[in-house]
Amino acid sequence: MATVSESVHGMWSSRLMFILAAAGSAVGLGNIWRFPYVAGENGGGAFVLVYLLCIALIGIPIMSAEIMLGRAGRRSPINSMQALAARSGASPLWELIGWMGALAGFMILSFYGVIAGWAMYYVFESGVGTFVGATGEVATSTFNEFTGNPAQVVGWQSVFMALTVLIVARGVGEGLERTVKYLMPALFILLLVLVGYSMSTGYFGDGLQFLFGFNFEKLTWGGVLMAMGQAFFTLSLGMAAIMTYGAYMPQDSSIVGTAAMVAGLDTMVALLAGMVIFPLVFANGLESSAGPGLMFVTLPLAFGQMPGGQVFGTVFFVLVSFAAITSSISLVEPAVAWLVERLGVTRRRAAIIVGGISWFVGLGSAFSFNIWSEATAFGGMTFFDVMDYVSNNILLPVGGMLIAIFAAWILDDDVRHSEIGIIGERYTLWSMLVGVVAPLAVGIVFVMTIF
Ligand code: PFF
Repeated sequence: MATVSESVHGMWSSRLMFILAAAGSAVGLGNIWRFPYVAGENGGGAFVLVYLLCIALIGIPIMSAEIMLGRAGRRSPINSMQALAARSGASPLWELIGWMGALAGFMILSFYGVIAGWAMYYVFESGVGTFVGATGEVATSTFNEFTGNPAQVVGWQSVFMALTVLIVARGVGEGLERTVKYLMPALFILLLVLVGYSMSTGYFGDGLQFLFGFNFEKLTWGGVLMAMGQAFFTLSLGMAAIMTYGAYMPQDSSIVGTAAMVAGLDTMVALLAGMVIFPLVFANGLESSAGPGLMFVTLPLAFGQMPGGQVFGTVFFVLVSFAAITSSISLVEPAVAWLVERLGVTRRRAAIIVGGISWFVGLGSAFSFNIWSEATAFGGMTFFDVMDYVSNNILLPVGGMLIAIFAAWILDDDVRHSEIGIIGERYTLWSMLVGVVAPLAVGIVFVMTIF
């Protein structure tokens, strides 16, 4: 395999642009919608601690491994893995990392599009003033009525998926880079405004206590698995999305520092979202374990009561929708890049195929909140629950573990050394984390959960 310094799909114009794109992928519904409700369902504090440990000890090492493999391969994950395995004299079966990633991508995108559709609907509801002065009951019934209506949910899911396809079809060049550059800081600032509001509710301390009071009695191995799954999901790891973005990264950027920066930004957004949502939960007598509706019930309450809330609320849900789009395009890109490489179809056609399949599978998740809410398996899980559980808690960690093992043990030494760009003790530490700590931690959590 000759070393390629450019990808045929295009390149990020600088390291900063890579950071923005990767942070755009990482920061999304996982931070603002999923983190608070999963933390709530798993009792808060101890879950958050395990989540933070997973980010530091598993997430950052695996992110650097993914970027490295992507940049060394410069193709879609499936073809990069194939080429790198061949170059390293390893079994062609390592290509499976790419295939598993594509499967996880379809599964995640299918339900991601549904929830992102909810966020878009909330732009509209906030805009017309539904939540002005609303009580907990109004916020709850608005949410239940909306999600209970399959036509509406599918309609908004379709709008979101169409937008995603449109953007990917055009290429992830300047347009998207520029969008991310302004939207991410705006989202951050609005979150800070909301934290300010949460502080004024008088329940901020209770929120912090819930998030950071480490009560280990509430933590089960199942909860540890959820925390690990959330760490993978929120950092977009284990399904080769970041590997794909790495393929478009300039050759001279440092990989480890970049990974740490992206993970730091992502974690900050998740913690801020938690600091906004839990004080509101306690101030309004809501349930911290309310599940997927948590954000959609608590935030409208805050906006309904604060001055200028109608405007803030509308802008906020616009930003959440954009954060979701900058993530969903990274869910589509790996499969699109492969279709373009393998079948020689145009990017546009590839985006339509991938988006169309995910949309179709997503109908199952859209119906999980209404007409199929009673159709459950595995002890009460809906279609949405199964998609979410299998992709986040199984496929992503397994994918991440295989990526780490390949990067640390199998990949040709010359390729690894020239890509990773660190030497001496720092290199030793990195290879310990990637080659031993991360895969072992994933393995232990799996074994403990099963028993
Ligand atoms: N990281 C995204 C979020 O937190 O919303 C979701 C995601 C995007 C997961 C891309 C996986 C992925 F490949």
